[in-house]
Parts: sequence; C-alpha cells; structure tokens
Amino acid sequence: MTVYFNGTFMDKADVSISPDDRGFLFGDGVYEVVRAEDGALFRLDAHRRRLARSLDAIQLHNADTDALWDAVHKLLSRTGLDEGPAKVYLQITRGAATPRQHAFPDPPVEPTVYARATAHEPPLDKWANGVKVILRPDQRWARCDIKSLNYLPNVLANQAAQEAGAYEALLVRDGFVTEGSHSSVAAVFDGTVALHPLTHHTLPSITRQVTLELCDERDVPVEEFPVAAEDLPNADELFLMGTTTGVMPIVRVDDWTVGDGTPGPVTQELLAAFRALEPT
Ligand code: PDD
Repeated sequence: MTVYFNGTFMDKADVSISPDDRGFLFGDGVYEVVRAEDGALFRLDAHRRRLARSLDAIQLHNADTDALWDAVHKLLSRTGLDEGPAKVYLQITRGAATPRQHAFPDPPVEPTVYARATAHEPPLDKWANGVKVILRPDQRWARCDIKSLNYLPNVLANQAAQEAGAYEALLVRDGFVTEGSHSSVAAVFDGTVALHPLTHHTLPSITRQVTLELCDERDVPVEEFPVAAEDLPNADELFLMGTTTGVMPIVRVDDWTVGDGTPGPVTQELLAAFRALEPT
C-alpha cells in the first residue's frame, strides 16, 4: 500500500520511524481524519483550518501543511481511491530528537509527517438500525479541543464500549455528557437538538458543524448546552456525529432504550440530509 511519509510516496512496509520520535515517546503530535468521495475531500477547508489550529495550539510551527494537503490529493489517485468512498488519516509529530527530554528540541527538528488513504465503507446497517452506546467517565485532559495524539482515555473508553457490545462510549464529566470517544453527540428534546457547546472539553467536530448547518437550513431548533447524563433518558432521540460515523442514531444506552428503540424522525431527517451532501 502506497503512503506518504516525510515528503515521499512509498510502500507502507518501507516506512521507518525512529524510536526517538516524539509522537512515539510523548504522543507529541496532532492528526486529522478526512472523508473523500471520488477523490474530493469532504469539508477540506474546515479540516485544513482545524489542523492548523491544532499545530498552533501545540506550538508546532515548522510543518509544511500545504505540501501535506497537496500530497493527500495525490495519494488518493496513486492508491486508486479517487473513486468511491475513502478516508484519509494524517498525522504530524514534533519529530525525532535525542536526548529524550520533555521540552521541545532546540533547535527544532524536522516534523514527522504521515498520511494514509484507505477505502471507507459507509456504516449503512448502523445508520438504518441505530447503535448502542455506554456511559463512561471522561478522564481526558483539559485541552480536548486539540486533535492531539493523546487518545489513551478515548482508547480505554472505546475498548469498554466494544467489550459491552456497544459502538461508542459517551464521556461524562462532572455529570454532563461532553462527547463520544471518537464522535460528537446530540440529544433531541421535544424537537430541539441539544449539543454540548464547543469548549476545551470537546473537539470542534466538523460533522457537528455540518449538522448545525443542516438544522439551520431545515428550521430545526438547536440549543447548545451541556446535557446532564441523568437527563439522557428524557431525550426523545440521541445521535452521534463524526467523519466516519456520519449522523448515527443511538437506540440504546447501557441497559435502557432510547425512545421506542428505533431511529427517531429528527435523526432520520438529518441523516438523510447528511447523506445527500456533496463533498466540498
Ligand atoms: N474522530 N470527538 C472526538 C473525541 C473525535 O475523536 C472525533 C473524530 C469527533 C468527531 O469529529 P469530526 O466530525 O471532525 O470527525 C468528536 C476521528 C474521526 C477519529 O479519531 O477517527
């Protein structure tokens, strides 16, 4: 499989990353996941802006992101993934430096840049039937707005979800649901979509933003406030949002059922609208 690594297209088997890489040692880096359809990247500008913001937030200023985004387009055609649905994973770390020290290398070293494209299978079955989620404590750090590589609490929460036969873990901080381990979440109360406001406890999710635009176009009322975990059973509908998740109905939380246990009308309308969107 052809991937992009530090300015070159190469076979994935030939990629060699130093054990001194700060991504490996400290999780000192950032990433993005972007969906593509027939070679066109979905909400490319928003992903570009978010990557730039993440890099800025971790003070990684010497990465050539223009070259990276250019390479992402070429990667799709080189891998034959410029037809049909695909997804691109890309990450930038602060590079390899010795001795191992917490502070940034001085002078800075070349960042490590990696991008990989794979086929994406839309989760049609989960969209149609909805999924189960579980509730877990939000044990993440206080800068969840940065799409950094530090995902261990997310990994542990998602593993717990998998062991419980669930698709996702909703994270609860101080009694309020912030988001999922790899997706955003919304509740519907009496026709109004309720979402956690964007704070340093949530990722500025691009699918969340798209969903807000879809609500606006359809006059679906939206209120941004933190939903208490104990209020979740009062919601008529719940749904997840994410690049690979799309707009996904939740029909079960732990051992209780959401609404009548089938995807609700607001979620279905937003999912249909989301599926009809062209990549831009
Ligand atoms: N996850 N919240 C978290 C913690 C996430 O990791 C993600 C994305 C989202 C949704 O963001 P977006 O709509 O921009 O994809 C929310 C990616 C897809 C991942 O880790 O694979």
